[in-house]
Amino acid sequence: MGVRFFTITTLLLAACRGETASTIDEHYDADTISEKPDGALLYQNNCASCHGSDGTLGASGARNLRETQMGKEKMLDLLEKGKGVMPPFKDLIPTEEERQAVVDYVLEFKEDEE
Ligand code: HEC
Repeated sequence: MGVRFFTITTLLLAACRGETASTIDEHYDADTISEKPDGALLYQNNCASCHGSDGTLGASGARNLRETQMGKEKMLDLLEKGKGVMPPFKDLIPTEEERQAVVDYVLEFKEDEE
């Protein structure tokens, strides 16, 4: 008895999940897909381990990104090539557009400071 109840519940849950997924899918139209990459998410995944979620951690000798004097072009170049302990991100963040989004996000830290 208990087992049958469990099975039915599981099936119902699976059915509900299936429906939710298809509802979400319908919202992924062309506009959503062509949206700008999520710089904040890319930053948290690739940079926060050394620079901290707010740019100030400075692990492994990383710089405080709130105080960087580096401009956009130089930062893009640094992301591609890496420097010292900081690895190059050309493969990890493969498109120029994504790297731009990360740089834009990093430069927002400085604006917060002022
Ligand atoms: C493995 C640790 C590590 C990771 C991961 C890392 N960095 Fe760094 N970062 C460093 C270190 C170390 C330096 C200092 C390099 C030097 O000058 O020798 C640095 C320097 C920088 C600088 C230069 C700051 C300045 O004023 O000179 C920027 C900008 C920067 N990182 C951005 C990023 C971004 C954006 C990411 C993610 C895509 C990232 N870093 C990921 C360690 C890291």
